[in-house]
Amino acid sequence: MTLKLGFIGTGGIAHHHVKNLVQMEGVALSAFYDVDIQRAQQAASEHNGAKAFSNLNEMLDGSDLDGVYVCVPPMAHGDAEYQLVERGIPFLVEKPLGINREVPLSIGEKIKSNNLITSVGYHWRYNESASLAKQLLANSKPGMALGYWMGGMPMVPWWRVQAGSGGQFVEQTTHIVDLLRYLCGEVQEVYAAYSLQVMGEQVEGTDVPDVGTVTLKLKNGMVATISNTCLLPIGHHTGLDIYTSNGVLELRSDALRELTTAGTTVHPNVANPYYIEDEAFLHALRTGDTSQILSNYEDSLKTHEITIAANESAASGKAILLS
Ligand SMILES: NC(=O)c1ccc[n+]([C@@H]2O[C@H](COP(=O)([O-])OP(=O)(O)OC[C@H]3O[C@@H](n4cnc5c(N)ncnc54)[C@H](O)[C@@H]3O)[C@@H](O)[C@H]2O)c1
Repeated sequence: MTLKLGFIGTGGIAHHHVKNLVQMEGVALSAFYDVDIQRAQQAASEHNGAKAFSNLNEMLDGSDLDGVYVCVPPMAHGDAEYQLVERGIPFLVEKPLGINREVPLSIGEKIKSNNLITSVGYHWRYNESASLAKQLLANSKPGMALGYWMGGMPMVPWWRVQAGSGGQFVEQTTHIVDLLRYLCGEVQEVYAAYSLQVMGEQVEGTDVPDVGTVTLKLKNGMVATISNTCLLPIGHHTGLDIYTSNGVLELRSDALRELTTAGTTVHPNVANPYYIEDEAFLHALRTGDTSQILSNYEDSLKTHEITIAANESAASGKAILLS
């Protein structure tokens, strides 16, 4: 069976998924929609029989799609997901789910009542390091975690604006928050401090904080801090360190480093996590079996809630208790 797929948003991450999907059997990249029609046309021109659309309803009503990738910037979520749920079309949506609490929550409710297959692009979960860390944590007691996303500013224009991206913690560091939840459990309380130190002067129009640190208490008693900055001219740490009764687990995009009394063991990540994420989504479309999808919309709402609470805490100066 050939799966007919469509794209809503045809920028950087859409291209990344396309590169994986063209390597897979039984996939037709049929329809591309973007508010910038030239981008949609460029994407469609690269695939036999594909069509570009400047109208979302037209694409969804006329293309008989089995699944759709939603790859729009954070502030643009809402209409695409509502239209997909209404038509019962399963989708993979990129993180973050949005820039506020309300729109993703209402999308989540509609997904639940329609029992729709969804996947959310938290690709760190698909790294070998994540599954190995899960196994290792089953045989040790974790006490705390330190997470980081320390780097420079992505130059897509919506990123530097709070009303475009929701800020670094919501847009980027959400991957580390999600990894913390995936490996260590649910978060109960959030306290955040943010500041804009450098990038406001360096890149015109910047209003997102360029430094921030967030303290989290987990329901199981663990404590964590996750810090981020986008003011660096270099890349620095991006990942999560978990401190346990057996030593330290350092998760990075390239490997898991396991530090114990026996020394340090490096377990490299070999597979492409985006490819595995894409395969899991296609498997679910073909079979209805969603067990390979490691992050669906309902679960991702909990990660999103933490990042929104962090923004609210930074604004109010108060700790926020999550339900
Ligand atoms: N999982 C990951 O590792 C990862 C990596 C990069 C980006 N992302 C996420 O993917 C999303 C998109 O990022 P990007 O880097 O591809 O951005 P981008 O700016 O390169 O592309 C976004 C595209 O969406 C289009 N667009 C904007 N509003 C739209 C709308 N309402 N309907 C249809 N199209 C619309 C734009 O014209 C543009 O072509 C962001 O939320 C980002 O956080 C995830």
